[in-house]
Amino acid sequence: MSTVTDYSTTMEQQRRYVLGTYPPADMMLVRGQGARVWDSQGTRYLDFCAGISVCNLGHCHPRVTAAICAQAGKLVHVSNLFYNENQPRLAALIAGHSFGGRVFFCNSGAEANEGLIKFARKWGHDQGRYEILCMKDSFHGRTLATLAATGREKYRKGFSPDMPGFRFVPFNDLAALAQAVGPETVAVLLEPVQGEGGIIAARPEYLKGVRELCDRRNLLLLFDEVQCGMGRTGTCFAYQQYGVEPDAMSMAKALGNGVPIGAFEVQAKYDQVLTPGTHASTFGGTPLACAAGIAVFEAFDQDGVLDNCCRMGALLRRQLEGLKAAYPFVREVRGLGLMVGVDLAVPVKDILVRARERGLLALSAGETVLRLLPPLTVSAAEVEEAVGILAAAMAGAVPAP
Ligand SMILES: Cc1ncc(COP(=O)(O)O)c(C=O)c1O
Repeated sequence: MSTVTDYSTTMEQQRRYVLGTYPPADMMLVRGQGARVWDSQGTRYLDFCAGISVCNLGHCHPRVTAAICAQAGKLVHVSNLFYNENQPRLAALIAGHSFGGRVFFCNSGAEANEGLIKFARKWGHDQGRYEILCMKDSFHGRTLATLAATGREKYRKGFSPDMPGFRFVPFNDLAALAQAVGPETVAVLLEPVQGEGGIIAARPEYLKGVRELCDRRNLLLLFDEVQCGMGRTGTCFAYQQYGVEPDAMSMAKALGNGVPIGAFEVQAKYDQVLTPGTHASTFGGTPLACAAGIAVFEAFDQDGVLDNCCRMGALLRRQLEGLKAAYPFVREVRGLGLMVGVDLAVPVKDILVRARERGLLALSAGETVLRLLPPLTVSAAEVEEAVGILAAAMAGAVPAP
């Protein structure tokens, strides 16, 4: 049974009291379960955004709900001046599912990337090296350092001067990267699969080449797995499909399935770079947030989540490929696992509006890329339903001249 909630008061309060940094919304979501959400009018939607790759286990996953409810009644927060049993447990799970490193906890993707940047600067400090080579079209966050590392210029506009120490090269271009390395260069930062940049996966030979280059030139290789990590591409972390390891990596978004938590992990050999007093975060690694993270890894290990992601990702991409014949403006279907992009020759905005009218929430990446990030627990029936809705939404879309 659906209830109808008037959201005019919410809208008015939002307009009056919340800083307008987001485009105005015209819908209020009140409930979520798995791949479904309901709005205040009782309308049900298939959610192929998952909170922009946050609710990777779907909304209100029973394991996560049970873990945070139990922990909320026991201990929500302690400072990092004391042990809390959940923090090292989650760190061990992250390390065990990646490269066995050392983990620092924070609260968001930007904060995790700030940590990577500080780690690299500290490591290079005594040799006078600080510069980080970053990728065009990358996105690393909205703080000043992560903005300066973000290749998408529109995000930096109006906030000059950029923090110094970052330079951009084209993604997937090894020669350009090799050429850019200078005496001050200390690290290379990249997303193994660019998210905001349009779902662009690193080419395998490129990533291997970057690793070799970093080894040869004594540079740190830093991966931003904030969007492509936590199972999104079918492996726990996207880099694991490439046969290379980073020196350090950031994660956030789906680490708590919606409970705010971020982290970065450095290889064990770098455990003396960030020493006591060099980095901290009041809320980093609270018992509550870590309880959510532990539940996420338990679901990965016990519920076949990654296997489902691979199977449903293949199904989704196959079905989307099938749209090409009927809709010639579908230029390319790409991605890994359930991180899927559909490049269109028409503005994606119109298609998103029509999809929503038909009950599907999806995202864009730039002007022409439809971005689909369903929960990794999505079913085949839900994938088929979503593609059916997209087909209907595409009908009537006019190709660009
Ligand atoms: C790859 C990547 N890095 C960093 C961030 C920033 O994360 P947050 O918004 O949690 O600060 C994002 C957010 O979309 C992202 O996609």
